[in-house]
Amino acid sequence: MTTRRTLIKSAGALVLAASFPLIASAQEVVKVGLILPMTGPFASTGRQIEAAAKLYMAQHGNTVAGKRVELIVKDDTNVADMTKRLAQELIVNDKVNILAGFGLTPLALATAPLATQAKVPMVVMAAGTAMITEQSPFIVRTSFTLPQNTLGIAKWAPNNGIKKAVTLVSDFGPGIDAQNAFKKYFTEGGGEVVQEIRVPVRNPDFAPFLQRVSNLKPDAVFVFVPSGVGSIFMKQFSERGLDKSGIKLIGTGDVTDDDILNDMGAAAKGVITSMNYSAALDNPANKAYVEAFTKANNMRPNFMSVGGYDGMALIYKALEKTKGDVSGPALLEAMKGQSWESPRGPVTIDPDTREIIQNVYITEVKEVNGALYNVPFDKIEAVKDPAKIK
Ligand code: PHB
Repeated sequence: MTTRRTLIKSAGALVLAASFPLIASAQEVVKVGLILPMTGPFASTGRQIEAAAKLYMAQHGNTVAGKRVELIVKDDTNVADMTKRLAQELIVNDKVNILAGFGLTPLALATAPLATQAKVPMVVMAAGTAMITEQSPFIVRTSFTLPQNTLGIAKWAPNNGIKKAVTLVSDFGPGIDAQNAFKKYFTEGGGEVVQEIRVPVRNPDFAPFLQRVSNLKPDAVFVFVPSGVGSIFMKQFSERGLDKSGIKLIGTGDVTDDDILNDMGAAAKGVITSMNYSAALDNPANKAYVEAFTKANNMRPNFMSVGGYDGMALIYKALEKTKGDVSGPALLEAMKGQSWESPRGPVTIDPDTREIIQNVYITEVKEVNGALYNVPFDKIEAVKDPAKIK
């Protein structure tokens, strides 16, 4: 009897002892809720960012400052109410320490009040409307703003023979930002915007709008369409013969997105855009990035992917700085002012605006080794979001 009881006791002690380290390690997890459009028309944004975040973790290990980083990926299907509901569940049920992702502006805007209420840092890895970061002091952005990316091409154009332009943008936050920024810098440089066109975001048919551009005969048409929509635009552009009309196509690099550029064909050649990233950037960090990303995912990384990759870099750096303190306000403070070498070049999180300061590249679509790339030929260094420079 005694022997049996002793046995049972010691077995119990063993079980207890064995479960302690489990409890201890369970407490040392830092959870990142990554909410992205993984299905629907903007699924490529989700696919690119998820792949990049996972690549960062595979390359840097999943332990930082003694904490195990756990990524919880959710598909919001590009529905803002869904993004908000998922964020709520992640905060309340999963007790995430950080929210991240946000593939489009309306999805980020819907979540901003929750980040403020819960004091959870919200890392915007994609959406680019300038005012997003002003909707919560807990938002930090690792993507770009449209005024930031537009400034490059808007300043380049009037110095390169483009005097009259029509602007054609998707009718929502980032498109309106791009249109206004283009007008400001292009006009300051001596150019004239002869017409401003806005195209519905859902199921866009560009044909009637392209006809208007064709009739107006400007030197150039400046275009913003969200990542993923460039192929449809380019197809309709060449179907209407605009690629051979002498009207130059310029824009932000969203229209010649690296994810789909190579399938656009000859019509895309010669398109000049400005952007915070190109897969063709010639620096060691980018060469390694493109190689590792392509190998792991069998696709070319685009500008959305670096938002995800650098978003994870920022989270890791903040955790190192707080020495593993996962409280929201501590992590947020630790994110401000961080600088590192990204595949896109040197980046810094502006401590005042929580926006990313980065180079903006002017690129031309060219064939390189049989594939189409946005080949950089000029850059503006360390660009802050111009919408926030008073
Ligand atoms: C946005 O919704 O802010 C957005 C989406 C796609 C882009 C750029 C901005 O390519």
